[in-house]
Amino acid sequence: MTIKVNIVLLCAGKSSRLKFNLPKVILPINGKTLLERSLFNLHQLNPSKIIIVAGFKKELVVNLAEKLDYKNIEFVIQKNQLGTGDAVKKAYKKLEDDSVSLIINGDTPFVDVETIRQALSQYYKNKSVFTIATSTPVSPFGYGRILRDNDGQILDIVEERDCNNEQRLIKEVNSGLYLVSTQHLKTFIKKIKKNKNSEYYLTDLVNIFVRNGMRVDSLPIKDERKFININTFDDYRKAHELDKMFTYEECIKNNIFLVDPNTFQKDLEVKISKNVFIGPNVILKGKTEIKEDVRIEGSAFISNSIIGRNTLVKPFTSIEDSKIASEVQIGPFSNLRPGNQVNSKVKIGNFVEIKKSNIGKESKIPHLSYVGDTEMGSRVNVGAGTITCNYDGFNKHKTIIEDNVFIGSDTMLIAPITLAKGSTTAAGSVLNSDIPEETLAVSRIKEKHISNWKRKPKK
Ligand code: UD1
Ligand code: CA
Repeated sequence: MTIKVNIVLLCAGKSSRLKFNLPKVILPINGKTLLERSLFNLHQLNPSKIIIVAGFKKELVVNLAEKLDYKNIEFVIQKNQLGTGDAVKKAYKKLEDDSVSLIINGDTPFVDVETIRQALSQYYKNKSVFTIATSTPVSPFGYGRILRDNDGQILDIVEERDCNNEQRLIKEVNSGLYLVSTQHLKTFIKKIKKNKNSEYYLTDLVNIFVRNGMRVDSLPIKDERKFININTFDDYRKAHELDKMFTYEECIKNNIFLVDPNTFQKDLEVKISKNVFIGPNVILKGKTEIKEDVRIEGSAFISNSIIGRNTLVKPFTSIEDSKIASEVQIGPFSNLRPGNQVNSKVKIGNFVEIKKSNIGKESKIPHLSYVGDTEMGSRVNVGAGTITCNYDGFNKHKTIIEDNVFIGSDTMLIAPITLAKGSTTAAGSVLNSDIPEETLAVSRIKEKHISNWKRKPKK
């Protein structure tokens, strides 16, 4: 069954406990903001709408969300921060009647999609109108406590500052994730009243439902760490460590050998297959995909690239916007700038720079070369110090190197130029005309030997 989900993400708060004077959803945790993290996670639920409630320094939140380029995001503004209930009051009119509303706090960056899926299926199975996620953290301090009657039915949520001594001892807390029938929400949200702290608490909705004869269902959360909310500086600091821990746990679960989680950075979109080895100081950015059995030895930067099965990336390698096939060897000290297609069993060695080039199967560029704007066939051997001279100061030109070409060391290939199948270049040649098949191209000053040459003695 497909469930139509509308999401309300609460991001309008002043974040006053953090004292950065910024909306906390724009703060980064290991390079990714809370907002990016929440949206990335929530999008996996295929919601038909995400309504972001912004308020405090709203333009910072709106600009960031717009940059992320999700299609189905809408914004509403909460001018005065009168509480979470008031924030939802600003958004509810935009919700679709035939949807279930998922309301979630914006300061919960690790929200666990699996738990939400479970909550959704429970919501439908139990024909619930209102389901909340609850947990029992080691310290319940700061959270709203869950009040239940003797039969275990939820009666109310009481915020920390409103708890009496007895309520403060309750261990079960509100995790800040609510599933509610949109039609019911539209009817009952208006009933939330301003409380003695001059705020409208979303959590009062629980008691309003109960008083109107409806049961509030709960879903206990298994991994409460995934629902930590960031209120204080200490929460923010801990979130960085937790994020590393989650990455490490995910790697272990997926059979990825990660040597050092502290020096490993991975964007949310990165995909890593099983049996991958990742050494220290590895940064994987953007839509990078690392296929099975790849070994990245260490100190590598890989951005928006696919690394094919069983490829070996030796240390100090940078790869951007490139597709690497299987069983390739790259590095140490290789620089693959954007736009390369490297086919299987290619070997790219130290101090080699490649840009916008297609490197055919089993070709080798083992040392000290620049290959740019080049179409290279299969089984080509490129000698040390080879340079494709692709730029004449005005335009870039192409170099075509067909199958089985052998390029001697220190060859300058002045583009545009084609080296036809099986041709050979002599070491040290500077070449600027096309070389026919099976031909040796030599361009050298004739060598002369001056006999009986004595160097001047050193002073
Ligand atoms: C809230 C819950 C608490 C729960 C906890 C879980 C309420 C009243 N309390 O408390 O029961 O245990 O989350 O994490 O809901 N926001 C607005 N507009 C406002 C106020 C807040 O958009 O006027 C946003 C904030 O930006 C934040 C979210 O709502 O992302 C939650 O607000 P916060 O003040 O952090 O609530 P908590 O005190 O943590
Ligand atoms: Ca909070």
